[in-house]
Amino acid sequence: MSRVSSLIGLLILPSLNVAAQVIFPGAELLGRPTDHSVTINVVPNTAIEAYFEYGLTSGGPYLTYPSSGAATPLFTDANTPLVAVLNGLASNTRYFYRMVYRQSGAIPWATRPEHSFQTQRPAGSTFTFTITSDSHLNVGGLGNPLLFQQTMQNVAGENPDFHLDLGDTFPMDNVSTQALANNNYLTLPVLFTMLAGHFAFVFGADDAWLVFVAIAVLTALIRVFFNRWHAGRREWWIPAACVLAVVGLALWLQPEETVPATGGSVTFEQIAPVIAARCAPCHSGASPPLGVRLETREEIEARAEDIERQAVQTRAMPPGNATGITDEERRLIGAWIASSG
Ligand code: HEC
Repeated sequence: MSRVSSLIGLLILPSLNVAAQVIFPGAELLGRPTDHSVTINVVPNTAIEAYFEYGLTSGGPYLTYPSSGAATPLFTDANTPLVAVLNGLASNTRYFYRMVYRQSGAIPWATRPEHSFQTQRPAGSTFTFTITSDSHLNVGGLGNPLLFQQTMQNVAGENPDFHLDLGDTFPMDNVSTQALANNNYLTLPVLFTMLAGHFAFVFGADDAWLVFVAIAVLTALIRVFFNRWHAGRREWWIPAACVLAVVGLALWLQPEETVPATGGSVTFEQIAPVIAARCAPCHSGASPPLGVRLETREEIEARAEDIERQAVQTRAMPPGNATGITDEERRLIGAWIASSG
């Protein structure tokens, strides 16, 4: 090549090679594998046109998707996933594919590296898969990019048929639409609702629904705080207000002191019919709930503290007051426990 033409090459190449300016935050991501298709997902930082080449041997010959290839390529806007479903594939087959793309309006096409995937194997055959979860990569301070890189290298080393990620690798904090944002605020309230059944203080209170609403609001506020934190704002009044509200809630929900219903002491004979009517329907027989049987005097006396906690203080028992225990009867049980010391 003459000196002039190489000089021209130097001047012209960078301006022709605009496709190189497209930045992809990651490789193509394959999902939804079936025995005849796979879905390719890729996000460019600028609007592009693209098509895919795929075939049975590395390096070609290739078919294209869409079948007309460069003539009618796919299109996507900046920062918007390009989604392509390679269809009509043979099952139990390894395919090689690569992406061909250019910035919208640019001339030359650029080719990304070739990768491969395996379509679904026949039922009953062995296969390899890998699982990751909660890498929290760009949630401030939580993720560890080096560790994640090592994890991905281990995954690649297994050469899995497919990989499951259980969540939070593409973090919920980087949301871009209102619907996503709403889900984000609902994360903790929903989590809380799923767990609430295990905590008597939530559903045992007189105004259980109010406790629930209060906690739902508080958990959503925590997300507001972290969302703003990730946006660079430190709004300490939010956690401060939450702490005050939780203290208030705890004071409101604290178990009442049990006041003896009668002046004198309450005997076992007085509470026995209450337990028999309100508790024994469930807590009897060969396999009572959590092994708590309340039929004989010994069984009841041995459980006095548990009974006080469940039926008098938190009112968690009977569940949903299935047997219609009255406040008077709860007080009676409390007084019996107090008088038996
Ligand atoms: C409708 C059925 C039903 C009735 C009536 C009922 N319980 Fe229960 N009880 C349960 C079930 C179910 C569990 C297990 C709850 C769980 O797994 O969290 C339980 C658990 C308990 C426990 C163990 C709680 C723990 O976490 O260790 C105690 C103590 C108890 N009940 C006491 C009572 C008393 C006292 C009464 C009567 C005032 C009563 N229960 C009435 C169904 C009942």
